[in-house]
Amino acid sequence: MVSDDDVPVAAQNKATRVFVLRARAAPTTGRDLLAEVGQQAHTEILAHTLMNALFVAQSHRPDVAVHLVLESSPDYSRTLSFDSNDLRDLGGFYEQALLGKIAHALDASAGMGKEERRQVEPGISVRTLSYEKLVQELACDHPLFVLDRKGTPIRGKTFTGNPCFLLTDHLPMPKKSLHSLERLGAEKISVGPVMLFASQCVVLIHNELDQDNV
Ligand SMILES: C[S@@+](CC[C@H](N)C(=O)[O-])C[C@H]1O[C@@H](n2cnc3c(N)ncnc32)[C@H](O)[C@@H]1O
Repeated sequence: MVSDDDVPVAAQNKATRVFVLRARAAPTTGRDLLAEVGQQAHTEILAHTLMNALFVAQSHRPDVAVHLVLESSPDYSRTLSFDSNDLRDLGGFYEQALLGKIAHALDASAGMGKEERRQVEPGISVRTLSYEKLVQELACDHPLFVLDRKGTPIRGKTFTGNPCFLLTDHLPMPKKSLHSLERLGAEKISVGPVMLFASQCVVLIHNELDQDNV
């Protein structure tokens, strides 16, 4: 495991499609994360979102970054970042394999101080970084879109730049965060009238962007 604090932020943000899942209920140790699968924290949501963001049949998508922010922590939130261009074998795309990777990355972050970063393996890094800080950083390179059932319909929308889509687990985004996101220029977009899982929104977003080959 190497620390690569030297990697410039801009170089970490080169993906053309970025997804951030804010998992407010998710614990930040590997053991607790796995214990909460199918329980109140519904940590399976993280694996489903990762799967739908990164994989297509018989391949994976290039130029996609996924940031999972796990916030139920006794010390710092953990931001796990997956870069599809650098990832090696994830051991499969089934729930157990992906949860294993997430748990492993969390365990690699044990004892880290505030706002440290560790490279866990190619394409996977962990940072003790808050959601607010992550989004501020992403806003420098990407237009932000908050997923909201009552937002502007995604259909027919033209995306310029490398869009970054902000999603939550089953706990809604706090009002205070929504105001901060607004100040960063984030736009609310909807993928349809039905309340879906974050992982299902990801499929629909990819599909819309695929139409225009963005
Ligand atoms: C299960 S939902 C969150 C439900 C949560 N109780 C709430 O009220 O926001 C998970 C994520 O999917 C997004 N989402 C679900 N359905 C959507 C839709 N039709 N359009 C846009 N975003 C949607 C939500 O905004 C949220 O980011």
